[in-house]
Amino acid sequence: MKILFYDTKSYDREFFEKLLPSYPGIEIKFIEANIHEETAALAHGYDAICAFVNADLGAPVIEELHRQGVKLILMRCAGYNNVDLKTTAKCGIQVARVPGYSPEAVAEHAMALALTANRHTHKAYIKCRENNFALNGLMGVNFYQKTAGIIGTGKIGQAMAKICRGFGMKVIAYDLFPNKNLDFLEYVSLDELLSTSDLISLHCPMTPETEHLINSETIAKMKDGVILVNTSRGGLIKTDDLIAGIRDHKFFAVGLDVYEEESAYVYEDMSSSILPTSTIQRLLSFPNVTMTSHQGFFTVEALTNIAETTLENAKAFMDGAEMKNLVH
Ligand code: NAI
Repeated sequence: MKILFYDTKSYDREFFEKLLPSYPGIEIKFIEANIHEETAALAHGYDAICAFVNADLGAPVIEELHRQGVKLILMRCAGYNNVDLKTTAKCGIQVARVPGYSPEAVAEHAMALALTANRHTHKAYIKCRENNFALNGLMGVNFYQKTAGIIGTGKIGQAMAKICRGFGMKVIAYDLFPNKNLDFLEYVSLDELLSTSDLISLHCPMTPETEHLINSETIAKMKDGVILVNTSRGGLIKTDDLIAGIRDHKFFAVGLDVYEEESAYVYEDMSSSILPTSTIQRLLSFPNVTMTSHQGFFTVEALTNIAETTLENAKAFMDGAEMKNLVH
């Protein structure tokens, strides 16, 4: 089975090559180019392609993959909002993903962002390095005894809820499908969560229903001085409305691992480039916004699990066995 691996970074190669000897019959060609309309034809002669969160897997790309004979798309991530599933179904291409490679990796990053945005540790470090030991601008708030509102209590949301409980927070949640096993938290309506949470963390997937879930109306319902964290998908937040809310002093702090506009830049060193858009820069111009570049997944454990599950998905396809991680 031949797999074309798009958008290879050194760490992808390292983790996949480590496990590959345990999967005889699977051959991977690693290329640096990401998949888009111009590069889809490179998949000629491959049974499968492997792609990540920032891949363009819209209808034209999938139709090209189909013309090239590709039968399987291996997403080496949990989210698949960038895959046009109508077109894959029409073309008879299967799509597999890695549903839960390390929920704790993402949840721990969500808490790291919340803490950094709140306590300004990123700025404190730079200040100390420059012998500036003044505390101006570094004041935060306690999380202890505050209310954490978790939107989406799937694998990552649950892990985040447990971390918040460990901080001594009251944990409330909103989900379309409440999980009865989470007896330490209380499910409430979205409106109640918005109006009573001191920390709001987004963990629902990006769907047509959740797109721009955080907008001027929902922001208006939040408590003044709320801390908002998004490690799920950028499109959950309407960025212009968030910027307006920040200007209105609504937020104590905002931590973003994902944001609209990220696809063009994410995982690339753009430090010498003049970027064609400026939303990210506008966000970063605020002293209470902290951003990272979609790195919630980036731990040794998560990368090991991603490589293992992706290769298991490929093996099941190759062997004609049941595919556990298909998306429809
Ligand atoms: P999951 O599928 O286990 O949980 C998602 C939860 O959201 C489910 O409980 C579901 O019922 C709920 N949900 C769905 N629609 C909803 C709605 N309209 N309102 C409220 N809740 C809703 O997913 P998991 O593994 O917890 O991942 C969550 C998201 O995190 C993924 O969709 C992905 O976008 C993102 N992610 C981000 C990463 C990063 O590196 N920053 C890495 C991995 C995932």
